[in-house]
Formats: sequence, C-alpha cells, structure tokens
Amino acid sequence: MSPIDFDFLKKLYSRFADSPKDNSETDKEKIQPLPFTMADEDQRREMWEETGNLLLKQGAVAAFTLAGGQGSRLGFEGPKGAFDFGLPSHATLFRLQARRLMNLGAKAGKPIPWAIMTSPLNREATVQHFEEHSYFGYNRDYIRFFDQGMLCALKPDGTPLQDENGDYVEAPDGNGGCFRALAASGTLAWFVEKGVRFLFLCNVDNALVKMADPIFIGALATSGLPCAAKVVHKKSADEKVGIFASRNGKPCVLEYSDISDALRTTTNADGSLQFDGGNTGMYLFRMDALRKISTQELPWHAARKTVNGVANCWKFEQFLLDAFPFLGKIFLFGVEREDEFAPIKNATGNDSPEVARKWLGKLHRFWLEKAKVRIKPEMLYEISPRLTYAGENLSQEVFDRELGRGIFEFPA
Ligand code: UTP
Repeated sequence: MSPIDFDFLKKLYSRFADSPKDNSETDKEKIQPLPFTMADEDQRREMWEETGNLLLKQGAVAAFTLAGGQGSRLGFEGPKGAFDFGLPSHATLFRLQARRLMNLGAKAGKPIPWAIMTSPLNREATVQHFEEHSYFGYNRDYIRFFDQGMLCALKPDGTPLQDENGDYVEAPDGNGGCFRALAASGTLAWFVEKGVRFLFLCNVDNALVKMADPIFIGALATSGLPCAAKVVHKKSADEKVGIFASRNGKPCVLEYSDISDALRTTTNADGSLQFDGGNTGMYLFRMDALRKISTQELPWHAARKTVNGVANCWKFEQFLLDAFPFLGKIFLFGVEREDEFAPIKNATGNDSPEVARKWLGKLHRFWLEKAKVRIKPEMLYEISPRLTYAGENLSQEVFDRELGRGIFEFPA
C-alpha cells in the first residue's frame, strides 16, 4: 500500500467542505447536443471493418477492462467479472470478454494485449478467478493486471477515518484513476512496446460488450479524431443514463442530474430527443490521446457515505468521463442496445442478471434465425464466442454439431 498523502486529503476536504458544489453545471456554461449516427446505417461500415481488421492483424489494438469497482449495487461477494449470471454455460463476465478477444485474435493471427485494472481490494480474487480457469486459454504473455489507486476516507470533520485496529480506511479512487494507474503501473509502456496504437476500454459488467470491435476501431482510425465512444438512443427522456453532449464547445458526459428538465426533453422536428447519446461505457482511444490524459489532473468529486459504520464520511473519486473535455473532439458511434449493451448493475429489476441473460439469449437466437437455422421459437440461445464473434460463421451444420457443447438453449 502506498503512503497516505495527508496534505492532499486536507486540500481536497477544504475544497469541498468550503464549497459543496463540485463540477456541476453553472449558468455561464453553454450546453449543446452532440448528434450521432447509427453505425449500421453508415455507408463506410465495410471500409471501417476492413481497416479495423487490418489494425488487429498488425497488432495495433489492445483492450482494457475497468474492474476496480466495488459492485455494491449488485451485492455479489467476489469481483464483478467473476460473476456467473446464470447462462447455461456458466460463463462469467471475464470469460465472455476473454473469449471474444480470443476469437478476434485467432482471426487476426495475433493475440490482443489485454489489461485489467483491479483495486487492492479485489486484485487477489480476480487473479485467482483467472488462475482457476487457466486464464480461459488466453495467452498469458498478453494479459496484465494492475491496481488502481486508493484514497483514505475522511470522517465528517475532515480527519482520516480509521478502523477498530487503527488502520486507515481506504477506497478505490474512482474509474478516472485508470489513466494515472495505466502510466504508473508501466502498462502504457507495455502497450507501446507491443506496438499498440488504439486502446479499446470498457466496463467489466456489460454482458454484450463487443471487445475490440473491428468496425469501431476502423471508424476511429479513419476519422483522425483522438477518441470514440459507443452510444445508444435513450429509452426515454427520463432514463437515468449519462449522455454525451457539448459543454462550452468540448465533449462531455452529462449525468441525469446535470441537465435541466427543459433541455432533457427538447426534441428535434421529427420528435426524437436532442440530448440522446446514452453512454454505454465502451470507448476507444488513440495511444497519444491516452498519454495526454495520463498527465492531466482530472477533477475530483466528493460523496458523503456511510463508511465502516460511520455516517456522512467523505469519499473522493475521479471519473473517467471527465477525460473527454481534455481531448477536444470525439467520434460518437451509435449502436443498437439489443446488440451491444446489457450492463449488470443491480441484483434485480433494471440492468439485472436476469435482463442480461435474456438479452444475450435473444441476440444469439436472432443470429441463428439470420443463419436460417431451425430453432425452437420459444427458446433462447447461448452461443460460445469460440464459434462466432457477432453472428458470423453460423449454419445448420454448426448448430447440429455444437448443440449442447458450444450452443445451448434455455427457456425464455
Ligand atoms: P460503476 O460506476 O458501475 O461502479 O463502475 P461499480 O463499482 O461497478 O458498481 P457500484 O456503483 O458499486 O454498484 C463502472 C465501471 O468502472 C469500474 C467498475 O469496475 C466498472 O467496470 N470502476 C469503478 C473502477 O474500475 N474503479 C472504481 O474506483 C470505480
């Protein structure tokens, strides 16, 4: 554990205790929508895919999973990536990510370097999950784990919180700490050594994540822009999802509470929402853009929470989303929710394991229907990423051979 910087904590505390407002919108800020188009409807799609595949063949692409969070809403004891959300194969989130990357790596003839950020609280359990599953067959030289930073929580009066043994109580410093930790851990240098030029970055919890999607990579590579994000249409004006927008001419993500009711509900002439680009937690960065961010001090956010039984403690975090204004421009890549976005956040209800399982089952059933495979319409399907990345290479023959091995059916 690194030594605690008490001076820094004191500064953070006085910044927030003296002025409780953190980074929220002020009257002077100019907020505007950032329009986007759906990638499926874009004529450049094929060209993007070819470019992306070429870059994968060159070994110019790596993946990076943010897995340092505590997953408190889900309430699962272990690291979220090790969560079995009830698929017939019992694939965990990490296994799905690994196998999707392996599918692409096999096609490219080169493994894709993959970094996983943990926190000191879940590092051991995460590595143990990989060990127990022989790293899912991933080439060990191409996986790297590293820890994000931790910050001591403060008591309501601003003094450091200690537990019953007198040890300081620390918590992860937020997913925005990933840029500093990437550089400090040597992972950025590891990528550069391997010839990586584009980094796909994602949350650990999206069951449908298209890891290192070649079309997405090609889109950014040919755009000349520093970074890209996948976005979905909002379900409704009231959906509580962060949205990409422009603030004072720079890209940003507005949280639900950052935007007024009036702006949130503004529509275009065709009735669609103006503020519509829902954040999915799937991003792509050029390496030089990443280097740039890793030298910036992102803003800090304060939250008042019960920590170790002490109410109203101070916890400080940085958010990855605050990196976007530093980069000046972003490519927004519109995708269909049902194809790519099923985050597991809560134990029940919205964004739950049950919903993710159903969405994956429906998507894979759709792939089989498209391949004209005879299936039972009332069943859902799970297809191993060993067989297909996004629905390609499926046929009646593959289905007959793999049912019960790499393809499973389960009730809707
Ligand atoms: P979330 O904001 O969904 O947080 O993180 P969480 O920890 O998974 O879940 P809750 O809020 O406690 O229920 C989005 C992504 O950022 C990562 C998470 O692991 C997830 O992939 N993250 C979050 C970190 O890597 N470090 C952090 O300090 C916080």
